[in-house]
Amino acid sequence: MRAFTVRHGGGLELTTDRPTPAPAAGEVLIKVKATSLNARDRRIVANDYIVDVTGRVPLSDGAGVVEAVGDGVSRFQVGDRVVGTFHPTWIYGPYPGWGQLRGTHRDGWLSEYVALDQQSLVAIPGQLSFEEAATLPCAALTGWSAVAGVGPGDTLLVQGSGGVSVFALQFARLAGAHVIATTSSEYKAEQLRALGAADIVDYKDTPGWGTRVRELTEGGVDRVLEIGGAGTLSQSIEAVAYGGQISLVGNLASGDDMNVAAFFQRAATLKSISVGSRSNFDEMNKTVARSGLRPVIDRVFPFGRALDALTHFESGSHFGKVVINY
Ligand SMILES: NC(=O)c1ccc[n+]([C@@H]2O[C@H](COP(=O)([O-])OP(=O)(O)OC[C@H]3O[C@@H](n4cnc5c(N)ncnc54)[C@H](OP(=O)(O)O)[C@@H]3O)[C@@H](O)[C@H]2O)c1
Repeated sequence: MRAFTVRHGGGLELTTDRPTPAPAAGEVLIKVKATSLNARDRRIVANDYIVDVTGRVPLSDGAGVVEAVGDGVSRFQVGDRVVGTFHPTWIYGPYPGWGQLRGTHRDGWLSEYVALDQQSLVAIPGQLSFEEAATLPCAALTGWSAVAGVGPGDTLLVQGSGGVSVFALQFARLAGAHVIATTSSEYKAEQLRALGAADIVDYKDTPGWGTRVRELTEGGVDRVLEIGGAGTLSQSIEAVAYGGQISLVGNLASGDDMNVAAFFQRAATLKSISVGSRSNFDEMNKTVARSGLRPVIDRVFPFGRALDALTHFESGSHFGKVVINY
């Protein structure tokens, strides 16, 4: 089968003669139909990640069709449409810490077939295509976890217009929340408005965007989706309401920026997010199925053009998700 692997010095290599895996007991063989890119994949493909990924098939997220099942498989049968979970062994309950993640510790989805433990898969919500389903495991579930508990009348601030932020915006709007977004371009601002963001602040033109958000909301937002991390926390603290929550998701902006005294004054909560469990994924999928929510896909590239997909993603021009299909 064909698969891409990460080179020692970074970059991808296409191999055409990799053996198709056979499903072991408890595993299913999946013919991959689509995969999607996440921010961490930039570092993984550059082989500049926490672990050495030389020779590893990258990408944590993917969707496909069950083509064969190993002994003892009861959750799925041949022909089922499935999507993988980001944390393969986190089924429910409290976060158990990082396990053997796909695309880093084990081979990921950028190949024609994968054989995976039945426990690390969920069914694809009916209305979604494989391309749409492939966007769910990391970005959608992280957005879902970050806005958990937000409801009608609450105000959410999302930073930027990448995969996680756009899903968080969509889930918060479904929950009846008022959403404010920051972004760096007028084109993306229009897209965010079309998805239901009531106000937009350009974080490049307005370095003190936290103060601006506080003015817009007359007292701050109930929840912040923190994407920038160390470089943006001080503005998020400025923007958050007394007793609100900052959901710490990313650390994209460099800096060392947490004003602890200001944070105390807010009596806010800083909660870090690590995607979510399979049980959280099932819960999210119920909402996706019932609401008819459609993931926002910026562009789809064919498998053979995986490198172009990465180059496009690295340019930062995308809005929502970048997908590879087969
Ligand atoms: N903790 C978790 O469980 C988890 C899960 C998934 C992802 N993440 C992390 O979350 C972050 C986003 O991931 P992603 O896959 O959504 O990335 P992505 O699709 O590449 O989106 C990144 C977006 O962030 C915005 N951005 C960049 N710098 C910013 C800044 N200084 N202020 C505000 N916005 C800024 C940009 O929005 P504009 O183009 O609109 O300006 C950019 O498009 C990454 O750090 C990633 O590692 C964490």
